[in-house]
Amino acid sequence: MREHNIAVIAGDGIGKEVVPVGCRVLQAAEQAIGGFHLIYDHFPWGCEYYEKTGRMMDADGLDRLVHFDAIYLGAVGWPTVPDHISLWGLLLPIRQTFNQYANLRPIRLLPGLRTPLRGKNNSEIDMVCVRENVEGEYAGVGWRYRRGRPDEIVHQVGVFTRCGVERVMRYAFELARRRPARRLTSATKSNALQYSMVFWDEVFRQLAAEYPEVTTETSHVDALAARMVTHPETLDVIVGSNLFGDILTDLGGALQGSLGIAASANLNPEGEYPSMFESVHGSAPDIAGQDRANPVASIWAGALMLESLGEVDAAALVMAALERVLAEGEVRTADLGGRNSTEEVGNAIVRAALKLGNVLPKPRAMGYIQPIKPQRTRKTQAGTGT
Ligand code: IPM
Ligand code: MN
Repeated sequence: MREHNIAVIAGDGIGKEVVPVGCRVLQAAEQAIGGFHLIYDHFPWGCEYYEKTGRMMDADGLDRLVHFDAIYLGAVGWPTVPDHISLWGLLLPIRQTFNQYANLRPIRLLPGLRTPLRGKNNSEIDMVCVRENVEGEYAGVGWRYRRGRPDEIVHQVGVFTRCGVERVMRYAFELARRRPARRLTSATKSNALQYSMVFWDEVFRQLAAEYPEVTTETSHVDALAARMVTHPETLDVIVGSNLFGDILTDLGGALQGSLGIAASANLNPEGEYPSMFESVHGSAPDIAGQDRANPVASIWAGALMLESLGEVDAAALVMAALERVLAEGEVRTADLGGRNSTEEVGNAIVRAALKLGNVLPKPRAMGYIQPIKPQRTRKTQAGTGT
């Protein structure tokens, strides 16, 4: 029996509602497929924890998390705590310290869902964004001088390292060459950002020479955003910096029919540290506590987690169950025009997984993630990311 130890951090707001549902769906897949077992450890970290303890996570939190095979995260952020405090207290240190440098975000229109793009069908919206996830605009470097004075000066410094840019691009090239379309678009803005993005383009050109089988192009991120709307069928894999990838993937969520669908894998592809799986959406205080949140993003993130753990049949089953329920169109949350609760959608997907488990679905021709094999060089201490 293969065992995988999962650290579960439901976090804040609707994270607390969608993550338990995700865990139940993964358990159903485990039951249906067999051969492996997920062992969950739940951590109460988040904004409520901060209000009680003054910390978003325990001081030794990262040193505890480092031993897990994966981290399953809900959402971080609540109106009582300034966002930059909550996010720099929990989410961003995990991404950075565990060197989860490739943030993979599928943008695929699932069967049965309608995109707001007129006349576009499922086969025309099938891309994946690889977002640089530990440096760039989110490096966390900056200064403020003369606070509050009229002559105040603020620097927020983007940090781009050759190694950092190269490895995330390499990840994107490797992904692109395994996809049928074999196309990779680099999101840039080198017309205005004459240091960081000119460098980004140079590294991209250098790597492109190593991957002649991949069709490459470079597009300014503003034009690319427009093209995702007007000609999504021309896009396959997109690689972008931390901030560009962040913005493009909310747009991607909208193209998928709801931000409640979009899933995200924060990957440390070398397996030296655990990777983390989460939805793209946030804690949604406006609908939190009402059992109305769409659990699909979190469930899809769970499928990505199974894939990265090497449980590819179970991952395919979760996706098949999720797609079946969405395609039938009877059980849906309000963001998709339905009337069902988070729980009801979860229950329907659990039932579909148990039922489909008997008739093993054909795994999708290609998964998103090459299973991560924890290395012999696996780290046993978190170290410091910042
Ligand atoms: C995301 C989120 C985060 C990000 C926020 C909450 C810091 O928007 O995962 O896309 O910007 O990375
Ligand atoms: Mn975002």
